[in-house]
Amino acid sequence: MKTTSLRWGFFGAGKCTHDFVSALKLLPLDHHKVVGIASRDSNKAEDFAEKLGIEQAFGNYSELAESDNVDIIYIGTVNSEHFHQAKLALLHGKHVLCEKPVCINRAQVEELVAIAKDKDLFFMEGFWTFFFPATRKLLEEIKQGSIGKVVQMTVEIGNKFYHLDRFSRKDIGGGTLLNHGVYGLMFAHQIFGQPSSISASGIISASGTDESVAITLTYRDTAQIASIICSSKVNMPGELRVIGTQGMLKLKFPFWAPTILETPTETLQFDLPLNLEAIKFNNLNSSGFTYEAETVRQCILNGWRECPIVGWNASRAVMGVADEVRRQLGIVFPHDNNTLHASEICADKGQRA
Ligand SMILES: NC(=O)c1ccc[n+]([C@@H]2O[C@H](COP(=O)([O-])OP(=O)(O)OC[C@H]3O[C@@H](n4cnc5c(N)ncnc54)[C@H](OP(=O)(O)O)[C@@H]3O)[C@@H](O)[C@H]2O)c1
Repeated sequence: MKTTSLRWGFFGAGKCTHDFVSALKLLPLDHHKVVGIASRDSNKAEDFAEKLGIEQAFGNYSELAESDNVDIIYIGTVNSEHFHQAKLALLHGKHVLCEKPVCINRAQVEELVAIAKDKDLFFMEGFWTFFFPATRKLLEEIKQGSIGKVVQMTVEIGNKFYHLDRFSRKDIGGGTLLNHGVYGLMFAHQIFGQPSSISASGIISASGTDESVAITLTYRDTAQIASIICSSKVNMPGELRVIGTQGMLKLKFPFWAPTILETPTETLQFDLPLNLEAIKFNNLNSSGFTYEAETVRQCILNGWRECPIVGWNASRAVMGVADEVRRQLGIVFPHDNNTLHASEICADKGQRA
């Protein structure tokens, strides 16, 4: 990239891509350019391009990956497709920002990291939550010890989303763990690190996906616990609580795209980026994608290949825990290709709960 502008291409003309592209419009044009959209269906790509003012539309992903006009590809497709599409983009010399979950298992993450390293390219899982100012402030408060020693983290995330393919279809890596639960797993990783034991139980739907899951992560050496409950059947509070010996921090609903942080002494409100064009987003607080996009630009301008906020080890760790949760629930995806439990998961082997 010769200029300070990042030229974005997109895989998948779906809801999340719509919101990400729309959020980029809130940022300076000379910093972020939306160049191309690729879909499996050329009509869909053309409609999407027309609606969102994108220069080029492609009826397959390979053509966009081959384009010389693109610096980075955002992958906004269903979970089962992330691995192959990220690989395609990296092998064609493109930086990659891939929606969460970055893959469906840890072995896939390892392979993508190896390719990104080999090709000297930026590669990041799109955990947008961790770029919101409210989340940055929560993590800073914890680090500064404002609630004493952290002992517990609890989170419940649930929506009546089972009717959506990405929750009910096993063949596309569906289920509440990989769509909802991973937010909690990433918070647990950022706050506590690697658990010494992982205990999960859940309700499996008729289609074989996890519709409700309860996960407990234990950190024996430091006497800490994280509890993550997620559901695709019912609405849940969507609040994250971090409890310490001297008080509690709360990221209020929706904690995955937060604007309000409660500390023991005050309630902090963080305004979202101005939406002057009154863009209609599909998902809550999607204008907050700007925080993530601008950080990605800064990383690439600095020549960094991974982001210090959501790095490769974080994605590896979260996928490792998700693999273990799926092992306990007995969920194997067709795309796992026998690689589900290829890697070591627990730091403290033999202490699985
Ligand atoms: N960061 C966030 O806030 C957030 C919010 C929601 C979702 N997400 C993540 O974003 C990703 C997409 O979610 P979404 O709600 O945008 O999904 P979506 O609109 O249902 O689908 C996105 C795209 O996936 C492709 N696709 C759909 N069904 C497929 C199938 N059976 N086989 C292959 N490709 C298929 C389609 O691409 P084509 O255009 O090529 O047909 C579709 O446009 C998921 O990984 C999800 O976890 C993130």
